[in-house]
Amino acid sequence: MTTPKAREEAVLEAVRERRELVNDAIPEELPIQRPERLYEASRYLLDAGGKRLRPTVLLATAEALADVEPLTTDYRTFPTLTGEPIDLMDAAVSVEVIQSFTLIHDDIMDDDDLRRGVPAVHREYDLETAILAGDTLYSKAFEIMLETGADPSRMVDALDVLATTCTKICEGQALDVTFEERDAIVPEEYLEMVEQKTAVLYAASACLPAILQGADQETIDALYGYGLDIGRAFQIQDDVLDLTVPSDKLGKQRGSDLVEEKQTLITVHARDQGVAIEDLVDTEDVDAVTEAEIDDAVAELEAAGSIDYANTTARDLVDQGKRRLEVLPNNEARELLCQLADYLIERGY
Ligand code: IPE
Ligand code: IPE
Ligand code: MG
Ligand code: MG
Ligand code: MG
Repeated sequence: MTTPKAREEAVLEAVRERRELVNDAIPEELPIQRPERLYEASRYLLDAGGKRLRPTVLLATAEALADVEPLTTDYRTFPTLTGEPIDLMDAAVSVEVIQSFTLIHDDIMDDDDLRRGVPAVHREYDLETAILAGDTLYSKAFEIMLETGADPSRMVDALDVLATTCTKICEGQALDVTFEERDAIVPEEYLEMVEQKTAVLYAASACLPAILQGADQETIDALYGYGLDIGRAFQIQDDVLDLTVPSDKLGKQRGSDLVEEKQTLITVHARDQGVAIEDLVDTEDVDAVTEAEIDDAVAELEAAGSIDYANTTARDLVDQGKRRLEVLPNNEARELLCQLADYLIERGY
Protein backbone atom coordinates (compact mmCIF):
# COMPACT_ATOMS: atom_id res chain seq x y z
CA MET A 1 0.00 0.00 0.00
CA THR A 2 1.32 3.48 -0.81
CA THR A 3 1.60 5.87 2.12
CA PRO A 4 0.46 9.52 1.79
CA LYS A 5 4.13 10.55 2.00
CA ALA A 6 5.10 8.23 -0.88
CA ARG A 7 2.15 9.56 -2.90
CA GLU A 8 3.23 13.14 -2.32
CA GLU A 9 6.79 12.34 -3.33
CA ALA A 10 5.57 10.68 -6.53
CA VAL A 11 3.48 13.69 -7.50
CA LEU A 12 6.29 16.11 -6.66
CA GLU A 13 8.64 14.11 -8.85
CA ALA A 14 6.10 14.13 -11.72
CA VAL A 15 5.76 17.91 -11.39
CA ARG A 16 9.55 18.37 -11.16
CA GLU A 17 10.18 16.36 -14.34
CA ARG A 18 7.68 18.40 -16.34
CA ARG A 19 8.77 21.67 -14.73
CA GLU A 20 12.35 21.12 -15.93
CA LEU A 21 11.19 20.59 -19.51
CA VAL A 22 8.98 23.69 -19.35
CA ASN A 23 11.85 25.69 -17.84
CA ASP A 24 14.10 24.67 -20.75
CA ALA A 25 11.44 25.74 -23.26
CA ILE A 26 10.72 29.19 -21.78
CA PRO A 27 13.91 30.96 -23.03
CA GLU A 28 13.36 29.37 -26.46
CA GLU A 29 9.83 30.74 -26.69
CA LEU A 30 10.52 34.04 -25.00
CA PRO A 31 14.07 35.14 -25.83
CA ILE A 32 15.45 38.41 -24.48
CA GLN A 33 15.34 40.87 -27.37
CA ARG A 34 15.17 44.63 -27.83
CA PRO A 35 14.13 46.54 -25.82
CA GLU A 36 16.10 44.37 -23.37
CA ARG A 37 14.75 45.93 -20.18
CA LEU A 38 11.18 45.08 -21.18
CA TYR A 39 12.02 41.46 -21.99
CA GLU A 40 14.20 41.07 -18.91
CA ALA A 41 11.33 42.31 -16.76
CA SER A 42 8.96 39.95 -18.61
CA ARG A 43 11.24 36.99 -17.95
CA TYR A 44 12.13 38.02 -14.39
CA LEU A 45 9.43 36.02 -12.54
CA LEU A 46 9.51 33.16 -15.01
CA ASP A 47 13.21 32.75 -14.26
CA ALA A 48 12.78 33.24 -10.50
CA GLY A 49 10.85 30.00 -10.04
CA GLY A 50 7.25 28.91 -9.77
CA LYS A 51 5.72 25.50 -9.34
CA ARG A 52 4.54 25.17 -12.99
CA LEU A 53 1.37 23.42 -11.84
CA ARG A 54 -0.77 24.58 -14.77
CA PRO A 55 1.62 23.37 -17.51
CA THR A 56 1.93 20.11 -15.58
CA VAL A 57 -1.85 19.68 -15.67
CA LEU A 58 -1.80 20.44 -19.41
CA LEU A 59 0.98 17.95 -20.22
CA ALA A 60 -0.46 15.18 -18.03
CA THR A 61 -3.93 15.64 -19.53
CA ALA A 62 -2.46 15.29 -23.03
CA GLU A 63 -0.67 12.09 -21.99
CA ALA A 64 -3.87 10.67 -20.54
CA LEU A 65 -5.83 11.49 -23.72
CA ALA A 66 -3.17 10.08 -26.06
CA ASP A 67 -2.97 7.03 -23.77
CA VAL A 68 0.83 7.13 -23.77
CA GLU A 69 3.18 6.31 -20.91
CA PRO A 70 4.04 9.52 -19.07
CA LEU A 71 7.23 11.24 -20.26
CA THR A 72 7.90 8.74 -23.05
CA THR A 73 6.74 10.97 -25.91
CA ASP A 74 8.44 14.16 -27.11
CA TYR A 75 6.09 17.04 -26.25
CA ARG A 76 7.40 18.97 -29.27
CA THR A 77 5.99 16.32 -31.63
CA PHE A 78 3.08 15.02 -29.64
CA PRO A 79 0.49 12.80 -31.37
CA THR A 80 -3.06 14.08 -31.84
CA LEU A 81 -6.03 11.70 -31.87
CA THR A 82 -6.08 12.03 -35.67
CA GLY A 83 -2.39 11.28 -36.13
CA GLU A 84 -0.60 14.51 -37.10
CA PRO A 85 1.79 15.77 -34.40
CA ILE A 86 1.58 19.12 -32.61
CA ASP A 87 4.01 21.08 -30.45
CA LEU A 88 2.34 20.63 -27.09
CA MET A 89 5.19 22.32 -25.22
CA ASP A 90 4.14 25.61 -26.84
CA ALA A 91 0.69 25.20 -25.29
CA ALA A 92 2.26 24.44 -21.89
CA VAL A 93 4.52 27.50 -22.06
CA SER A 94 1.59 29.64 -23.21
CA VAL A 95 -0.46 28.94 -20.05
CA GLU A 96 2.55 29.57 -17.83
CA VAL A 97 3.14 32.89 -19.60
CA ILE A 98 -0.49 33.85 -18.85
CA GLN A 99 0.11 32.84 -15.23
CA SER A 100 3.15 35.16 -15.08
CA PHE A 101 1.25 38.05 -16.60
CA THR A 102 -1.48 37.74 -13.97
CA LEU A 103 1.07 37.54 -11.12
CA ILE A 104 2.86 40.73 -12.19
CA HIS A 105 -0.38 42.70 -12.30
CA ASP A 106 -1.79 40.98 -9.19
CA ASP A 107 1.17 42.15 -7.11
CA ILE A 108 0.58 45.72 -8.22
CA MET A 109 -3.11 45.47 -7.27
CA ASP A 110 -2.43 43.67 -3.97
CA ASP A 111 0.46 45.99 -3.11
CA ASP A 112 2.76 43.02 -2.52
CA ASP A 113 6.55 43.27 -2.55
CA LEU A 114 7.58 39.63 -2.69
CA ARG A 115 6.87 36.97 -5.34
CA ARG A 116 8.54 33.61 -5.94
CA GLY A 117 11.04 34.61 -3.26
CA VAL A 118 12.22 37.74 -5.11
CA PRO A 119 10.99 41.35 -5.24
CA ALA A 120 7.77 41.78 -7.26
CA VAL A 121 8.40 43.14 -10.76
CA HIS A 122 7.08 46.61 -9.92
CA ARG A 123 9.58 46.72 -7.03
CA GLU A 124 12.60 45.28 -8.87
CA TYR A 125 11.92 47.50 -11.91
CA ASP A 126 9.22 50.17 -11.71
CA LEU A 127 5.46 50.42 -12.13
CA GLU A 128 5.56 51.38 -15.81
CA THR A 129 7.84 48.47 -16.69
CA ALA A 130 5.74 46.03 -14.65
CA ILE A 131 2.53 47.04 -16.42
CA LEU A 132 4.23 46.70 -19.81
CA ALA A 133 5.89 43.39 -18.90
CA GLY A 134 2.47 41.98 -17.94
CA ASP A 135 0.92 43.26 -21.16
CA THR A 136 3.78 41.83 -23.23
CA LEU A 137 3.38 38.40 -21.64
CA TYR A 138 -0.37 38.54 -22.18
CA SER A 139 -0.04 38.93 -25.95
CA LYS A 140 3.05 36.71 -26.23
CA ALA A 141 0.98 33.84 -24.80
CA PHE A 142 -1.23 34.00 -27.90
CA GLU A 143 1.77 34.16 -30.24
CA ILE A 144 3.27 31.09 -28.55
CA MET A 145 -0.02 29.17 -28.66
CA LEU A 146 -0.18 29.89 -32.41
CA GLU A 147 3.05 27.96 -32.86
CA THR A 148 1.62 24.59 -31.79
CA GLY A 149 0.93 23.78 -35.46
CA ALA A 150 -2.55 22.44 -34.72
CA ASP A 151 -5.20 22.16 -37.38
CA PRO A 152 -6.64 25.69 -38.02
CA SER A 153 -10.15 25.02 -36.71
CA ARG A 154 -8.76 23.48 -33.50
CA MET A 155 -6.40 26.44 -33.22
CA VAL A 156 -9.28 28.90 -33.41
CA ASP A 157 -11.03 27.01 -30.61
CA ALA A 158 -7.85 26.99 -28.52
CA LEU A 159 -7.33 30.73 -28.98
CA ASP A 160 -10.98 31.28 -28.11
CA VAL A 161 -10.47 29.43 -24.81
CA LEU A 162 -7.30 31.40 -24.08
CA ALA A 163 -8.99 34.75 -24.79
CA THR A 164 -12.09 33.92 -22.75
CA THR A 165 -9.86 32.76 -19.91
CA CYS A 166 -8.00 36.08 -19.84
CA THR A 167 -11.26 38.04 -19.88
CA LYS A 168 -12.59 36.00 -16.96
CA ILE A 169 -9.38 36.42 -14.97
CA CYS A 170 -9.79 40.19 -15.28
CA GLU A 171 -13.46 39.94 -14.24
CA GLY A 172 -12.49 37.81 -11.24
CA GLN A 173 -9.70 40.16 -10.22
CA ALA A 174 -12.16 43.06 -10.48
CA LEU A 175 -14.53 41.23 -8.11
CA ASP A 176 -11.62 40.45 -5.75
CA VAL A 177 -10.81 44.16 -5.54
CA THR A 178 -14.42 45.34 -5.10
CA PHE A 179 -15.03 42.72 -2.40
CA GLU A 180 -12.41 44.53 -0.25
CA GLU A 181 -14.95 47.32 0.19
CA ARG A 182 -17.93 45.04 0.86
CA ASP A 183 -19.09 44.06 4.35
CA ALA A 184 -20.47 40.62 3.93
CA ILE A 185 -20.31 38.32 1.00
CA VAL A 186 -21.71 34.79 0.88
CA PRO A 187 -19.69 31.65 0.04
CA GLU A 188 -21.32 31.45 -3.41
CA GLU A 189 -20.00 34.92 -4.27
CA TYR A 190 -16.52 33.97 -3.11
CA LEU A 191 -16.63 30.78 -5.18
CA GLU A 192 -17.73 32.71 -8.27
CA MET A 193 -14.89 35.21 -7.77
CA VAL A 194 -12.21 32.51 -7.45
CA GLU A 195 -13.64 30.55 -10.35
CA GLN A 196 -12.98 33.59 -12.49
CA LYS A 197 -9.69 34.86 -11.11
CA THR A 198 -7.99 31.49 -10.64
CA ALA A 199 -9.90 28.36 -11.65
CA VAL A 200 -10.43 29.26 -15.32
CA LEU A 201 -6.68 29.00 -15.98
CA TYR A 202 -6.66 25.48 -14.55
CA ALA A 203 -9.76 24.73 -16.64
CA ALA A 204 -8.03 26.03 -19.77
CA SER A 205 -4.90 24.00 -18.95
CA ALA A 206 -6.95 20.82 -18.68
CA CYS A 207 -9.15 21.30 -21.75
CA LEU A 208 -6.64 22.84 -24.20
CA PRO A 209 -4.90 19.53 -24.96
CA ALA A 210 -8.30 17.96 -25.63
CA ILE A 211 -9.12 20.76 -28.07
CA LEU A 212 -5.70 20.69 -29.78
CA GLN A 213 -5.67 16.89 -30.01
CA GLY A 214 -9.20 16.72 -31.44
CA ALA A 215 -11.15 15.10 -28.56
CA ASP A 216 -14.96 15.14 -28.51
CA GLN A 217 -16.98 17.87 -26.81
CA GLU A 218 -18.01 15.70 -23.87
CA THR A 219 -14.35 15.12 -23.03
CA ILE A 220 -13.48 18.80 -23.47
CA ASP A 221 -16.34 19.82 -21.16
CA ALA A 222 -15.48 17.24 -18.49
CA LEU A 223 -11.84 18.36 -18.44
CA TYR A 224 -12.89 21.99 -18.22
CA GLY A 225 -15.07 21.06 -15.23
CA TYR A 226 -12.16 19.19 -13.61
CA GLY A 227 -10.03 22.34 -13.92
CA LEU A 228 -12.74 24.58 -12.47
CA ASP A 229 -13.17 22.29 -9.46
CA ILE A 230 -9.51 21.78 -8.66
CA GLY A 231 -8.74 25.44 -9.44
CA ARG A 232 -11.30 26.70 -6.92
CA ALA A 233 -9.91 24.26 -4.37
CA PHE A 234 -6.38 25.47 -5.19
CA GLN A 235 -7.35 29.09 -4.44
CA ILE A 236 -8.98 28.10 -1.14
CA GLN A 237 -5.69 26.41 -0.17
CA ASP A 238 -3.76 29.49 -1.35
CA ASP A 239 -5.87 31.57 1.05
CA VAL A 240 -5.15 29.14 3.92
CA LEU A 241 -1.41 29.18 3.14
CA ASP A 242 -1.41 33.00 3.13
CA LEU A 243 -2.29 32.76 6.84
CA THR A 244 -0.25 29.79 7.92
CA VAL A 245 3.05 29.62 6.03
CA PRO A 246 6.10 31.84 6.71
CA SER A 247 7.00 34.28 3.94
CA ASP A 248 10.40 32.72 3.25
CA LYS A 249 8.82 29.33 2.57
CA LEU A 250 5.86 30.76 0.65
CA GLY A 251 7.99 33.12 -1.44
CA LYS A 252 5.33 35.81 -0.86
CA GLN A 253 4.28 37.84 2.16
CA ARG A 254 2.41 35.96 4.87
CA GLY A 255 -0.74 37.73 6.06
CA SER A 256 -1.05 39.89 2.96
CA ASP A 257 -4.75 39.00 2.56
CA LEU A 258 -5.56 40.16 6.12
CA VAL A 259 -3.75 43.46 5.61
CA GLU A 260 -5.48 44.04 2.27
CA GLU A 261 -8.83 43.01 3.83
CA LYS A 262 -9.37 40.35 1.17
CA GLN A 263 -12.53 38.30 1.37
CA THR A 264 -11.66 34.63 1.57
CA LEU A 265 -13.81 31.62 2.39
CA ILE A 266 -12.12 31.68 5.81
CA THR A 267 -13.06 35.27 6.61
CA VAL A 268 -16.54 34.87 5.10
CA HIS A 269 -17.18 31.93 7.46
CA ALA A 270 -15.57 33.66 10.46
CA ARG A 271 -17.65 36.81 10.05
CA ASP A 272 -20.72 34.62 10.03
CA GLN A 273 -19.53 33.17 13.36
CA GLY A 274 -19.29 36.66 14.86
CA VAL A 275 -15.53 37.28 14.42
CA ALA A 276 -14.70 40.98 13.88
CA ILE A 277 -12.61 40.54 10.75
CA GLU A 278 -11.62 44.21 10.43
CA ASP A 279 -10.00 44.07 13.91
CA LEU A 280 -7.84 41.01 13.21
CA VAL A 281 -4.89 43.17 12.16
CA ASP A 282 -4.77 46.93 12.50
CA THR A 283 -2.29 47.98 9.85
CA GLU A 284 -2.67 48.75 6.19
CA ASP A 285 0.98 48.10 5.45
CA VAL A 286 2.04 44.53 4.77
CA ASP A 287 5.58 45.34 5.95
CA ALA A 288 4.27 46.54 9.33
CA VAL A 289 2.19 43.49 10.27
CA THR A 290 3.95 41.27 12.84
CA GLU A 291 4.13 37.47 12.96
CA ALA A 292 2.52 37.58 16.42
CA GLU A 293 -0.42 39.57 15.07
CA ILE A 294 -0.94 37.04 12.28
CA ASP A 295 -0.59 34.13 14.74
CA ASP A 296 -3.31 35.64 16.97
CA ALA A 297 -5.58 36.18 13.98
CA VAL A 298 -5.08 32.58 12.85
CA ALA A 299 -5.86 31.32 16.38
CA GLU A 300 -9.15 33.23 16.30
CA LEU A 301 -10.03 31.95 12.84
CA GLU A 302 -9.19 28.40 13.88
CA ALA A 303 -11.32 28.69 17.02
CA ALA A 304 -14.27 29.81 14.86
CA GLY A 305 -13.85 26.61 12.78
CA SER A 306 -13.20 28.73 9.68
CA ILE A 307 -10.01 27.03 8.54
CA ASP A 308 -11.65 23.61 8.91
CA TYR A 309 -14.60 24.89 6.91
CA ALA A 310 -12.30 26.06 4.09
CA ASN A 311 -10.41 22.75 4.09
CA THR A 312 -13.62 20.72 3.91
CA THR A 313 -14.97 22.83 1.05
CA ALA A 314 -11.70 22.41 -0.87
CA ARG A 315 -11.70 18.65 -0.29
CA ASP A 316 -15.26 18.32 -1.65
CA LEU A 317 -14.31 20.29 -4.79
CA VAL A 318 -11.25 18.12 -5.39
CA ASP A 319 -13.30 14.92 -5.03
CA GLN A 320 -15.88 16.28 -7.48
CA GLY A 321 -13.11 17.22 -9.93
CA LYS A 322 -11.53 13.79 -9.77
CA ARG A 323 -14.84 12.11 -10.61
CA ARG A 324 -14.96 14.08 -13.87
CA LEU A 325 -11.79 12.31 -15.05
CA GLU A 326 -13.78 9.17 -15.75
CA VAL A 327 -14.09 10.37 -19.37
CA LEU A 328 -10.36 9.68 -19.81
CA PRO A 329 -8.81 6.30 -20.60
CA ASN A 330 -7.84 4.53 -17.39
CA ASN A 331 -4.05 4.96 -17.43
CA GLU A 332 -1.07 6.21 -15.44
CA ALA A 333 -1.46 9.82 -16.57
CA ARG A 334 -5.11 9.88 -15.42
CA GLU A 335 -3.95 8.62 -12.04
CA LEU A 336 -1.41 11.45 -11.98
CA LEU A 337 -4.20 13.98 -12.63
CA CYS A 338 -6.05 12.56 -9.59
CA GLN A 339 -2.92 12.82 -7.47
CA LEU A 340 -2.29 16.37 -8.69
CA ALA A 341 -5.81 17.31 -7.61
CA ASP A 342 -5.08 16.01 -4.11
CA TYR A 343 -1.72 17.73 -4.06
CA LEU A 344 -3.27 21.14 -4.80
CA ILE A 345 -4.98 21.08 -1.38
CA GLU A 346 -2.41 19.05 0.55
CA ARG A 347 0.62 21.16 -0.46
CA GLY A 348 2.41 23.19 2.19
CA TYR A 349 3.45 26.07 -0.08
C1 IPE B 1 -0.35 31.90 -7.42
O1 IPE B 1 -0.29 30.69 -8.09
C2 IPE B 1 -1.52 32.69 -7.90
C3 IPE B 1 -2.81 32.16 -7.50
C4 IPE B 1 -3.75 31.94 -8.36
C5 IPE B 1 -3.10 31.93 -6.12
P1 IPE B 1 0.81 29.60 -7.76
O2 IPE B 1 0.80 29.30 -6.29
O3 IPE B 1 0.62 28.44 -8.67
O4 IPE B 1 2.15 30.36 -8.06
P2 IPE B 1 3.49 29.89 -8.78
O5 IPE B 1 3.19 29.90 -10.25
O6 IPE B 1 3.85 28.54 -8.28
O7 IPE B 1 4.48 30.94 -8.40
C1 IPE C 1 -4.38 35.34 -7.34
O1 IPE C 1 -4.98 35.53 -6.12
C2 IPE C 1 -5.19 35.59 -8.50
C3 IPE C 1 -4.50 35.71 -9.76
C4 IPE C 1 -5.19 35.63 -10.82
C5 IPE C 1 -3.06 35.97 -9.86
P1 IPE C 1 -4.02 36.01 -4.97
O2 IPE C 1 -3.87 37.47 -4.96
O3 IPE C 1 -4.44 35.32 -3.73
O4 IPE C 1 -2.62 35.36 -5.42
P2 IPE C 1 -1.28 35.47 -4.60
O5 IPE C 1 -1.56 34.93 -3.22
O6 IPE C 1 -0.89 36.90 -4.59
O7 IPE C 1 -0.33 34.57 -5.34
MG1 MG D 1 -2.01 38.55 -4.67
MG1 MG E 1 -4.88 39.11 -5.68
MG1 MG F 1 -3.16 34.51 -2.23
